[in-house]
Amino acid sequence: MAALWWPMLVLGVVAFVVFAGLLGWAMLRRRGADDDAPPPDDIPPGRRAWLVGAGVVQPTVLVAVTFGLTLAAMQSIPDDAPSEALEVHVVAHQWWYEVRYPDHGVVTANEMRLPLDEPVRLTLSSADVVHSFWIPRLIGKTDMLPDGPTIAVVHADEPGTYAGRCAEFCGLQHTRMGFQAIVEDRADVEAWLEAQAEPAPPPVGATAQQGQEVFLGSTCVECHTVAGTPADGDRGPDLTHLASRSTIAADTVANTPEQLEAWIRNPHDVKEGVDMPPSPLDDDDLAALVAYLGGLE
Ligand code: CUA
Repeated sequence: MAALWWPMLVLGVVAFVVFAGLLGWAMLRRRGADDDAPPPDDIPPGRRAWLVGAGVVQPTVLVAVTFGLTLAAMQSIPDDAPSEALEVHVVAHQWWYEVRYPDHGVVTANEMRLPLDEPVRLTLSSADVVHSFWIPRLIGKTDMLPDGPTIAVVHADEPGTYAGRCAEFCGLQHTRMGFQAIVEDRADVEAWLEAQAEPAPPPVGATAQQGQEVFLGSTCVECHTVAGTPADGDRGPDLTHLASRSTIAADTVANTPEQLEAWIRNPHDVKEGVDMPPSPLDDDDLAALVAYLGGLE
C-alpha cells in the first residue's frame, strides 16, 4: 500500500504544482489586457496545443500510470495463505465478533491471537447485515457479508495489541463494534489456544457457586455458552473464558467487575440498542453472578 501511495503522492504534487504555476502565470499575464476586446473566433494553434496537451493528454497519462500502479499493488496482495497457515473464522454480529479457530476447537469473542511473522488465513462472514473487518495497522477494510465468506490473509511482523474496528455502517452501535488482535510468538498463541479449548473452570467459593446457579437458572443460558455447563446458547458471545479477555461489549469497556455489573444490570446504558436485555436480578444475585463470570479464566 505504501509502495502505491508514495508514487501517487509524488504524481499528485507534481500535477498540482504545474497546474497552480500555470494558473498563476495566466492570472498575472491577464493583467493589463483589454477586457473589452471580443474573444477570438477561433482558438490559435498554440493555445490548442496547450488545451489538448494539459487538458487531455496529461490527465490521461497520469490516470493510466496510477491505474497501472494500482493493478501491480493489487497483484502483490496475497489472496490466499499457504495450506499450513493458521485458520481463523470471524463471524460478525450486530455488534460483536464471534472468533473461531476450527482446527483447535476454540470459540471466543472480540479478541483474536495471531502468530508473529507468518500468514494467517481469515475466513470472514456475517450472521446478519454487511460489516467490514478492519485492523488499520495490519489489514485493509474487508467485507463481511451475510451471503458467503470472504478470504483474507493477515501477516503481522511486529508483536503487540492491535485495535480492530468495523468499517461498514451496520446499525446503531456500529462505532462500538471493535475487537483486539494480539500478535505474539507462535508458542504463546499455541498455549493460549490450548487454554481456550478447555471447558470453563468450576466455580471456586460459595459466592461464585451461587453465581453459577444464578447464571444457569436465568435466561443467560438462552444466548450464551459456557463449555462444561448446560449453557449452550449461541446468540451472544461465548463466555467460557470471559475473564481472560481484557474488554467486554466488543471492546467498548474494560473487563472489570464494576463494568461487568453495570453491563449485566442494563446493557442499554452502555450500548443502546443491543440485543441483550436488562437483567432483573437483586443486588446479591448480581454480585454473585459477576463473581462467577470473573472466575471464568
Ligand atoms: Cu459492524 Cu459496522
